[in-house]
Amino acid sequence: MPSPERAAAAAADGPPALRFPFDAAALTEAPIITERLVLRPLEASDAADVFEYQRIPEVLRYLPWPERDRAEAYEHTAKRAAARVLADDGDFFVLAMTLPGTPSVDDVSGDRVIGDMMVRVSSAKHAQLELGWVVHPDFQGKGYAREAATAIRDFAFETLNPHRIQAFLDARNAASAALCERLGMRREATILEEQYNDGEWQDTALYGVLRREWAAAKG
Ligand SMILES: CC(C)(COP(=O)(O)OP(=O)(O)OC[C@H]1O[C@@H](n2cnc3c(N)ncnc32)[C@H](O)[C@@H]1OP(=O)(O)O)[C@@H](O)C(=O)NCCC(=O)NCCS
Repeated sequence: MPSPERAAAAAADGPPALRFPFDAAALTEAPIITERLVLRPLEASDAADVFEYQRIPEVLRYLPWPERDRAEAYEHTAKRAAARVLADDGDFFVLAMTLPGTPSVDDVSGDRVIGDMMVRVSSAKHAQLELGWVVHPDFQGKGYAREAATAIRDFAFETLNPHRIQAFLDARNAASAALCERLGMRREATILEEQYNDGEWQDTALYGVLRREWAAAKG
């Protein structure tokens, strides 16, 4: 049962009002620029850089991704790159985190993709979006994930108008949980044995932040 204060605040927020459909192709022309990164839609041609982190077992540990050989991984990147339009539940797009000044592994004239961030529709009806992230270990512990995720969280709230943004993670994933907390998200649940991956049942942590909490924190 929500407190009377929360019920009143929720009522004041009004009904769901996502600005859909949204085509992330718009971010090719006008990428999100942060202090150190350029965030633009993932392209199939990013596959070599993505494979550099996708092939590392430590990166896959808490991701529901199987180990893929190079051909399978390139196909996976092409599929993720093709997803651009948000309109219905399950729709998603992926932004490449590019680091200007650091060359791509297969094209020295291009900037290296050091990780990627996903925005997915959990519920169009209820205006709930979900974020997901992965960063190459060589570029972890430097605040890049935080920088990109902060910018994408702000972009999502400002442009798409969700009521809430959430993240689901393997409950043992301390680095991802810390990132959620840096983003002002609250741990709302530990869902027991929610997934069966790598031959075992895994608990899932659910983090979330409401639009009005994000707005209040931004001042
Ligand atoms: C989850 C993941 C993206 C987090 O990456 P990260 O690099 O730890 O996250 P941040 O960008 O927030 O970096 C924070 C660290 O950088 C440090 N840092 C260094 N320079 C910094 C700067 N300029 N600004 C901010 N933090 C900085 C922080 O102090 C912090 O260190 P700490 O963890 O020792 O406290 C990463 O662990 C990952 O890709 N894991 C594998 C894939 C995965 O599990 N994805 C999640 C599935 S739910």
